[in-house]
Amino acid sequence: MTNQDNVLFVDTIQHVREAIAEHAAAHSRLFVLCDENTLDHCFPLLANDSEELQNAEILVIEAGEGSKNWEIAHHLFAQLLEFEADKQALIINLGGGVVTDLGGWIAANYKRGIDWINIPTTVMAMIDASIGGKCGIDLMHHKNMVGVIAFPVQTIVCPEFLDTLDPIEILSGQAEMLKHALLRSRNDFDNVCNAIANDATPDMEAIIASASVKLEIVKQDAFETNERKTLNLGHTVGHALESYFISIDKGIPHGIAVAAGIAIETPISSAYHMLSADDSQWITEQCIGLFDLDSYQWPSFDILVPYLMNDKKNSGGKINLALLSDFGDCLASFPVELEHLTEAYETFLHRIKNEA
Ligand SMILES: NC(=O)c1ccc[n+]([C@@H]2O[C@H](COP(=O)([O-])OP(=O)(O)OC[C@H]3O[C@@H](n4cnc5c(N)ncnc54)[C@H](O)[C@@H]3O)[C@@H](O)[C@H]2O)c1
Repeated sequence: MTNQDNVLFVDTIQHVREAIAEHAAAHSRLFVLCDENTLDHCFPLLANDSEELQNAEILVIEAGEGSKNWEIAHHLFAQLLEFEADKQALIINLGGGVVTDLGGWIAANYKRGIDWINIPTTVMAMIDASIGGKCGIDLMHHKNMVGVIAFPVQTIVCPEFLDTLDPIEILSGQAEMLKHALLRSRNDFDNVCNAIANDATPDMEAIIASASVKLEIVKQDAFETNERKTLNLGHTVGHALESYFISIDKGIPHGIAVAAGIAIETPISSAYHMLSADDSQWITEQCIGLFDLDSYQWPSFDILVPYLMNDKKNSGGKINLALLSDFGDCLASFPVELEHLTEAYETFLHRIKNEA
């Protein structure tokens, strides 16, 4: 197992097949983890003309965040055992962030770790989830509570898979692109906003640019001691919202929850005199407008409190946020009082009501 990212960007599925053939030659057996949608839309593209994949065992999970749980993980471990997968087996995670998070964790733990590769099929997974080694499952609706940081032998990114992706899932991935852009520059932020406003599916150039932001940060701080915490921008409230939607069995695309998280957390930066009020207003307006945040039924703040109090970044009873101090400049961990979050959330709800 490696301890950093090895990402290959390719422009045709044929190149993905060639990379798989090389990995297959170095492993005893192939297992492909798909969800029901990637089994229908992505696996046939890959398996066509690939002897290695036609002989692979296919493991299938239901699509959606609900599969990132212990019961499904247990079932997958049991399937590997029943198939007598040995230490030289290779798991190919073919899917979005749910498949790469879950499949990475299964591979990192089965028989104390076997090799895996990620083949991301959503924008979210191409620019974010399949990079950086974080993998795991949710626990009692709390996001990503059980997991590890461990790296696949390779991540192979091919934007051709995006042709069949639903527009709301493209938009969801663009929320993380927007976050990466905020960590880079005002110019990058405006470019991503324009691409979203024009309904443009991210191309290879945009995907590489966004993935590079994460790759650079992870390279400096793989195990999140400091710099990597900036990637949590918008995620404290975003994860609490997502957890709430999982708990009511509705779900919300991860990126939409993150966009709401950015819209709610950003004004806290200006309340603490870090980010100008104008910049804060602009970022918040863009998130609300571009991601149609007024079309969701957001919960009352008290429902979010248990999730916020269990956030992985908390310390000494304090909730720590990654907060922007400027475009391209972010404080990795800033302790805030619950009252500040309450106020920011109420302001967001009020604003949404006025825009609806
Ligand atoms: N590990 C990390 O660093 C990291 C970073 C960001 C997000 N995540 C996690 O990623 C998950 C969200 O990932 P996601 O947004 O990719 O969601 P997802 O994996 O649920 O995929 C979204 C939907 O798109 C479908 N789909 C995937 N590829 C398709 C394709 N090519 N054509 C048609 N349909 C396709 C899936 O079946 C699913 O219904 C969350 O669990 C989040 O916590 C992890």
